[in-house]
Amino acid sequence: MFVKEFKTPITNKTVLIGKDSGYDNIIFAIESSCDETAAAIVKNGREVISNVVASQIKTHIEFGGVVPEVAAREHLEAINLVISQAFEQSGLKPDDITAFAATVGPGLIGSLLVGMNAGKALSIAYDKPFIGVNHLNAHVCANFLDSDLEPPFIALLVSGGHTQIIEVKNEFKQTIIGETIDDAAGEAFDKVARLIGLDYPGGVNLDKSAQTGNPYAFKLPQAKLSNEYNFSFSGLKTAALQLIQKLKKENKELPISDIAASFQENITSVLYTKTKKAADSMNLKTIVLAGGVAANSEIRRKFFNLKNKGYKIYAPQMKYCTDNAAMIASSAYYTPDTVGELDIEAFSRM
Ligand code: KG4
Ligand code: ZN
Repeated sequence: MFVKEFKTPITNKTVLIGKDSGYDNIIFAIESSCDETAAAIVKNGREVISNVVASQIKTHIEFGGVVPEVAAREHLEAINLVISQAFEQSGLKPDDITAFAATVGPGLIGSLLVGMNAGKALSIAYDKPFIGVNHLNAHVCANFLDSDLEPPFIALLVSGGHTQIIEVKNEFKQTIIGETIDDAAGEAFDKVARLIGLDYPGGVNLDKSAQTGNPYAFKLPQAKLSNEYNFSFSGLKTAALQLIQKLKKENKELPISDIAASFQENITSVLYTKTKKAADSMNLKTIVLAGGVAANSEIRRKFFNLKNKGYKIYAPQMKYCTDNAAMIASSAYYTPDTVGELDIEAFSRM
């Protein structure tokens, strides 16, 4: 049976969520873990009815990155509008909603509190269950949106805060089989982008710059680790820093796009090789990309080439790669360990 049981907060009624609930599940979700304030309505974990994202990028460019206190204040300003727009776009009313969901972690605490408390308030006001969602599970679930993906599969989750290889056995079970021991992939992209003078948000700007560079111009190191599915990117970041310092000392103009392309080639080939190895060792022919770095053009190119070799490759549409609330709604529907209680607390780290 694919079904989870939740309670409504006021009258304590039982609400079933999942494929075998016997009715359509319409989930309203909120995301506010970092620098996007978002709300969405999704039917049965897959069908996006409305999806609204207010990005704070413009504000954070000024500071060269996300300042937590500033982010929390921006969420407060945007949250009501984003929620009402998600309802307006859908044509639905609060009574049509099966359950309200929100990201409870990991993320910036002040930011999480804004979205989570808005979700809890809606849940109390309309007497519908509240479902707390883990942001990382949700990035993987972004692949269910408007798609025909079915488990089992191997997922590569690459975001600003996390880098993991996850085995998804069925709708109910996600198991981490490898992860970074230091920097996350997105963090490495952002730090190297900053070193070569590219603006925040670094990852996407580095991707653009790399398009015109030579990926083999500079040889950068790859870490060797005892767990072959773990990652380490701090050595790569240091090597990039040393290379840049050396070039500057020689009074050479920085070959920005060549450095960007060489770094991108290095990190995407590590991510690709390890993920493919994990899939092959488990005899899984379906590989799924998730998280902000899954928007990277080179990572997509490398994995999508595998389609010619009998693999099924999934990556969310660009708008569902970076933070959004549709993936939170999907995760509220799919992921088993979502908690449906009003006293659930926000958490910053896993
Ligand atoms: O998943 P996400 O939106 O937020 C987190 O949960 O962290 O991921 C953001 C990360 C940032 O580090 C950003 O630089 C990176 O995803 N990113 C990219 C690209 N687009 C976003 N990295 C490389 N290439 C891109 N095109
Ligand atoms: Zn994210």
